[in-house]
Amino acid sequence: MKDIISINDFSKSDILEILRLAKEMEDNSNQMILDDFVLGTLFYEPSTRTRLSFEAAMQRLHGRVIGFADSNTSSVSKGESLVDTIRIVEQYCDIIVIRHPTEGAARLAAETASIPVINAGDGSNQHPTQTLIDLYTILKSRGSLDNLNIGFVGDLKYGRTVHSLATALSLFDSKMSFIAPEDLQIPKDYLDMHNNGEYRKSESLSEIMPSLDILYVTRIQKERFQDPMEYERFKGIYRIDRQSLLHAKKSLKIMHPLPRVDEISTEIDLTDHALYFEQAKNGIPVRQALLRLLLKK
Ligand code: NCD
Repeated sequence: MKDIISINDFSKSDILEILRLAKEMEDNSNQMILDDFVLGTLFYEPSTRTRLSFEAAMQRLHGRVIGFADSNTSSVSKGESLVDTIRIVEQYCDIIVIRHPTEGAARLAAETASIPVINAGDGSNQHPTQTLIDLYTILKSRGSLDNLNIGFVGDLKYGRTVHSLATALSLFDSKMSFIAPEDLQIPKDYLDMHNNGEYRKSESLSEIMPSLDILYVTRIQKERFQDPMEYERFKGIYRIDRQSLLHAKKSLKIMHPLPRVDEISTEIDLTDHALYFEQAKNGIPVRQALLRLLLKK
């Protein structure tokens, strides 16, 4: 595998192998294994966790990092095409991590570059490395990716982390519930992938809550709405607080790719339900595993 572009490119055994490697990186993080390599991070959209954890993952393996966090400070603002930028940057580094607002941009970058390219989010399409972190987090917390009831709530239409995680989970024997108003439901394309997974759709979080082992909460993706009034219609529709968890299992774990706006009350942060900070922390070993996999075959 040269690149990481879509979770559809992975088999179940590929995924399990990456999760195994991530565990190895977590247990043994002092390995100085990437000290001759340079990572290029090209972020055409805002990011905190994804960019910083990729950079930290590389630096903790004694690799080096170049790149931009804001494409307005690069020649993109002068009108340079993505293909030209990639042709240049690939001369300066050994691996590229790219986030771009256009669906398919990472695939185009990978086809252009002779070095590995990792998709750190392409529009509302895919976010495969977040998915590997999410799977790693579920596996660590529950000991398995099978026999779970997993609910997704929020913006399932534009949330790229939901699209790639639901696709990946369909390789396992867990049951998925998609909780959103009809206009924000998960697009059919991402459900057609489902071979093993059983799923249901609902608008009512309280109806689904009692059965869940994992609740994956997402932000309403404000920047993807054409019409700001549409966003106003949906903002704040689901809010997780102590009240909403009254009928939840004691063992329920709440995940969120972050950033959160108002969809999880901070009163949840110190409860045993909160798994989202741990999830963000898992970004380091999982991304270290991916860098190692692509740079050292
Ligand atoms: C997500 C993203 O960028 O898709 N953030 C992340 O990478 N952890 C989720 C979001 O922005 O809502």
